[in-house]
Amino acid sequence: MKKYNVGVIGATGMVGQRFVSLLDKHPWFNLSVVAASNRSAGKPYADALSGRWMMPSPVPEAAKSLTVMSAEDDIASIAASVDFVFSAVDMKKDEIKALEEAYARAECPVVSNNSAHRWTPDVPMIIPEVNPEHIKVVDAQRKRLGTKRGFISVKSNCSIQSYLPAFHPLKDKFGLDRALVCTYQAISGAGKTFETWPEMVDNVIPFIGGEEEKSEQEPLKIWGKLEGGAIVPAVSPAITTQCIRVPASDGHMAAVFMAFKNPPKADEIISLWRDFKGRPQELDLPSAPKQFLHYFEEENRPQTGLDRMLENGMAVSIGRLRPDTQYDYKFICLSHNTLRGAAGGAVLLAELLCAEGYI
Ligand SMILES: NC(=O)c1ccc[n+]([C@@H]2O[C@H](COP(=O)([O-])OP(=O)(O)OC[C@H]3O[C@@H](n4cnc5c(N)ncnc54)[C@H](OP(=O)(O)O)[C@@H]3O)[C@@H](O)[C@H]2O)c1
Repeated sequence: MKKYNVGVIGATGMVGQRFVSLLDKHPWFNLSVVAASNRSAGKPYADALSGRWMMPSPVPEAAKSLTVMSAEDDIASIAASVDFVFSAVDMKKDEIKALEEAYARAECPVVSNNSAHRWTPDVPMIIPEVNPEHIKVVDAQRKRLGTKRGFISVKSNCSIQSYLPAFHPLKDKFGLDRALVCTYQAISGAGKTFETWPEMVDNVIPFIGGEEEKSEQEPLKIWGKLEGGAIVPAVSPAITTQCIRVPASDGHMAAVFMAFKNPPKADEIISLWRDFKGRPQELDLPSAPKQFLHYFEEENRPQTGLDRMLENGMAVSIGRLRPDTQYDYKFICLSHNTLRGAAGGAVLLAELLCAEGYI
């Protein structure tokens, strides 16, 4: 099978390093370009990292000697030498928007981890098991950009990756009406470790900038409809959230309450979770978890430390489904924020785009 040549822009950062790790020995993708700011450009990748490598496994041998290119100055040569790029740069939002569009216009598809284009109406924001059909909006985007191959696709925010998939098989069947969600989010979501953020040891911070808006609004685009060359967001369910930073290294947990127009029985919910399969499972994509939604019967699960790496950090763990006095049900769920919630989710999206012929 043909291997796709892939670039990572922002390869020296925390999310970029995750991409570089996940691409090592990937069956379809061959990492051939790493790019970052002009501070790192021109150096071998291993030197540009200079003590900043934060992944549990060592820097992949194949990546060490790649010369870091300039993400901003080498667009034409990067676009000419890869089949697509993953974007994980940290710049101002309007700069990221312009940079990603420049790659797309240079006929290089972009699979982005950034939020900059999430609300561009013809840019699909995809959780591959939930809304793979949104890929079709790329046809309209290519028309707008005047490209044949180039386009931008994005993944959603890490905070919604545990509860939105749990809602998905129930939403239309039972009329999910409203939900209340409190998230307990790991420090890696801020690009930090306990070494770089010692204030988080034995501490909880009740604010994460912009996170509650994303957690309430992004599900509506994901459940939106493709109309007239744009994704028109859904108007319901109504979701209210509080997002809290907790002293966990990786893994975002959520405490969720949900109310339905036609409330199901608890065992119907659990069977729908256990039986749920999406397009990645049908296509047997390399990074797809065999079972996306795992329900635990034990009262004290899921736990961040025990369950975040389930199915290589790509599955969602759910537990403690029970009736509630104010809503119909409440439950707990968990997903790995830098795997399913960031680089892993983007790699799965790229696999889907390749399998569906968009890359
Ligand atoms: N951390 C997470 O879990 C997480 C989750 C979801 C989304 N995000 C988003 O993902 C993006 C990356 O986050 P991160 O935590 O990986 O950031 P980071 O560790 O600060 O890394 C930033 C990367 O961007 C590059 N960069 C900075 N300025 C640049 C410029 N002017 N031109 C080209 N490259 C430039 C850096 O290159 P140099 O090394 O050369 O400076 C580095 O490779 C951010 O937008 C963040 O909001 C992060």
